[in-house]
Amino acid sequence: MKKIYIFGTGGFAKEIYFLISEINKAKSTFEVAGFIDLQPKSQHLEIGGNKFDVFDEDSFFKDSSNADASFAIGIGNPKVLNSIKSKYLSAYDFPNLIHPNVVGLFETIQFGKGNIITAGCIFTVDITIGSLNIFNLNSTIGHDSQIGDCNVINPGTNISGGVYIGNNNLLGTNSTVLQYIKIGNNNLIGAGAMLNTNIENNKVAVGLPAKEIKENK
Ligand SMILES: CC(C)(COP(=O)(O)OP(=O)(O)OC[C@H]1O[C@@H](n2cnc3c(N)ncnc32)[C@H](O)[C@@H]1OP(=O)(O)O)[C@@H](O)C(=O)NCCC(=O)NCCS
Repeated sequence: MKKIYIFGTGGFAKEIYFLISEINKAKSTFEVAGFIDLQPKSQHLEIGGNKFDVFDEDSFFKDSSNADASFAIGIGNPKVLNSIKSKYLSAYDFPNLIHPNVVGLFETIQFGKGNIITAGCIFTVDITIGSLNIFNLNSTIGHDSQIGDCNVINPGTNISGGVYIGNNNLLGTNSTVLQYIKIGNNNLIGAGAMLNTNIENNKVAVGLPAKEIKENK
C-alpha cells in the first residue's frame, strides 16, 4: 500500500477519504497517512472513528522523507488547486483517483495527473482532461470535450459533447453546459445554471439560461 496524503481538512477532504476507501475495497492501493493544511486548526482529524495526523503544509514539504508519498487534492476551490499545481504538481506523485463505478471508454480518454473522479460520474468517448480537476458525484462529460486544469465540477453537473473548459473554473451543483460551448478561465457558474452561450474569463454567471452578473475577482 502506498502512503497518500490529502490536501485539506474540510468536508471535501472527508469525501476523498471515502473515495480512497472505495478504491481500496476494489484493490488495496493506498494507506491514508494524514492530511495537509496551510493553517491547521487542529493536529488531528477524526473520520469514521479513525484519528489522522494533520500536517502544516510548509513544514511538511521541508521534510524530504515525504517525497515518495502520493498526494490527493481535497479542497473544492479552483484558486487553491491552482496554487497546489504551481507549488507541487511537477515534483510529487498525484495519482488520478477514480471511483470503481465510474463509466467511460477509458482507452479514448486522456487524463493528466491528480484528477479526482467520484462515484457515479460518466465520461463517454474521446475526451481530454488536464490535471487536478474535481469531478464530483454523478457528473457527466460528453464526447470530444476538452477540460484544462484545476476545475471544480460540482455534483450532478452535465457537460455535453464538444465542450471546451479552460482552467480554474467552478461549475455549481446541477449546472448544465450545452454542446460545443466554450468556457475560458477563472469563472464561477452558479448552482443549477444552464450555459448556452460561450463565457470568456473571470465572470460569475447564474441562472437559466445563465447570464453574467459580475466579475470573479
Ligand atoms: C454563483 C455563486 C458562485 C455566486 O456566489 P457569490 O459571488 O457569493 O454571489 P451572491 O451570493 O452574492 O449572489 C449574487 C446574486 O446572484 C444570485 N445567485 C447566486 N447564486 C445563484 C444561483 N446558483 N442561481 C441563481 N441566482 C444565484 C443571488 O441570489 C444574488 O442575487 P441578487 O443580487 O438579486 O440578490 C454561488 O451562488 C453558487 O451558485 N455557487 C455554487 C456552489 C455549489 O455548487 N456548491 C456545491 C458544493 S458540493
